[in-house]
Amino acid sequence: MILAREVVDLRESEDVLKARQQARALALSVGFGLVDQTKIVTAVSELARNTVTHGGGGTATLEVVEYGAHRGLRIVFRDQGPGIADVEQALRDGYTTAGGLGLGLGGSRRLMNDFEISSFPGKGTTVTVVRWK
Ligand SMILES: Nc1ncnc2c1ncn2[C@@H]1O[C@H](COP(=O)(O)OP(=O)(O)O)[C@@H](O)[C@H]1O
Ligand SMILES: [Mg+2]
Repeated sequence: MILAREVVDLRESEDVLKARQQARALALSVGFGLVDQTKIVTAVSELARNTVTHGGGGTATLEVVEYGAHRGLRIVFRDQGPGIADVEQALRDGYTTAGGLGLGLGGSRRLMNDFEISSFPGKGTTVTVVRWK
């Protein structure tokens, strides 16, 4: 069941800040403590930035979800950019095609409980992450 949903357009750097703020607010509403909030916000920051810089812009959909007795925060990042040809390679720490640190994808995967990428070269990328309470 989805208890709350916010969609943030990701076009430019300032939008990354908006996504961070929404993530923080929804994490608070779920009752996550400061450590978990920070993990979530850090992952959202990295993935939103990827949507803007590598994906050419897109959206972040943030949802408070409930499965049985468990609540969580799910964030789906979608873009219609160039896609990722080799997802496994992109997940490797230090791999970057843009002179970054190459820690965004791998780091986000470690910070969240669920992590899923589907990407189609020429069509775009969708990254779904969940942190469970
Ligand atoms: N949304 C995306 N669309 C296309 N390529 C992406 C996307 N997200 C990540 N990538 C690719 O994966 C690589 C690794 O991403 P990441 O770990 O965040 O490192 P960085 O952003 O520092 O390059 C990027 O350099 C880029 O090639
Ligand atoms: Mg990155």
